[in-house]
Amino acid sequence: MSTAWTIPTGTHAAVLGLGVDRGKRVVPNSELVAAIDSSDEWIQQRSGIRERRWVGPDEDLVTMSLAASQAALAASSVEAAQIDAVIVATCTWTMQTPSLAAKLAYLLGTQAPAAFDISAACAGFCHAVGIANDMVRSGTARYVLVVGAELLSEMTSRTDRGTAFIFGDGAGAVVIGPSDVPGIGPVVWGSDGEQFDAIRQSVDWRDVLAEEEPTMPYIAMDGATVFRWAAYQMAKVAQETLDRTGIRVEEIDLFVPHQANMRIIDAMARAMKLPEHVRIARDIADQGNTSAASIPLALARMYADGEAKSGDLALLIAFGAGLSYAAQVVRVP
Ligand code: UT7
Repeated sequence: MSTAWTIPTGTHAAVLGLGVDRGKRVVPNSELVAAIDSSDEWIQQRSGIRERRWVGPDEDLVTMSLAASQAALAASSVEAAQIDAVIVATCTWTMQTPSLAAKLAYLLGTQAPAAFDISAACAGFCHAVGIANDMVRSGTARYVLVVGAELLSEMTSRTDRGTAFIFGDGAGAVVIGPSDVPGIGPVVWGSDGEQFDAIRQSVDWRDVLAEEEPTMPYIAMDGATVFRWAAYQMAKVAQETLDRTGIRVEEIDLFVPHQANMRIIDAMARAMKLPEHVRIARDIADQGNTSAASIPLALARMYADGEAKSGDLALLIAFGAGLSYAAQVVRVP
């Protein structure tokens, strides 16, 4: 009997390298408050955000994704030609089709890899890491480039009091490849479609076309609903992730949650009873909430600040529109 179809057993996967790119324009709260009748004090107290990064004149989703991907490849010592698949998590690529991943794969000089975008909003990066982990472990791919990239300044209303101050622009990328030891734990993920409308594109594209003077749809959000869901439900998901991975909270070094709101981060840390030694990502203060890009950007900041080092165990947890969530433990490169 033929044995042509061989499924490798015992292959592990790990994150091999990380790269990021932040929007270059620094936008302080003072620049936004007049249009939403707010104050620097209110924004800092309710969200922990002092300033955010938006794209400068020569930047967009493609330039940020490309820069982050090139940095991730260099950090991994993996050539673009070795990449078997490119997965981009984004909710701000404005082409319905083709994917940003296909364009990025071409610009990077890869050799015709599988390339596709996924739509899981702020939870997209952890979804993509979970998919890439399974692809490498099953033998579907050897090296997978995972990118979280967002240009939210373009899809944020300057006059919406609930969102104008929250979002930022940036991209983060990791290369995931084979490893002798497990480097990525099982993903715990899910969605609550009953809260489908809690974070949404303000207007369906069909309705945009029906407008007399069509304008770009914005991200709309029932902030308090999302806040309550995230603050109370996500700590349970984080604990389930540790349980599924088979480690105790004392064994993690880094907690890298989606950078949605500093108060949500604090509430989760309290609910999980994180030990003193666990370093907590707080990139949101001067980057803003960058949706699918926020976890890799926050991890990069931890390296830059000397809080993360190679080999640390990090608990990642992402959540957002859907409402959807995904979490896993990774050993950082
Ligand atoms: O990344 C995807 C996931 N997203 C999130 O996780 C975001 C979750 N939500 C949040 O981060 C928070 O809900 C916000 C930061 C968006 C808002 O904070 P909040 O504490 O939930 O404020 P709120 O909407 O409950 O409003 C509280 C008060 C209201 O006034 P009264 O009724 O108490 O007098 C609002 O009118 O604050 C007022 N308010 C503002 N005041 C100054 C609302 N927006 C503003 C504003 N400036 N921008």
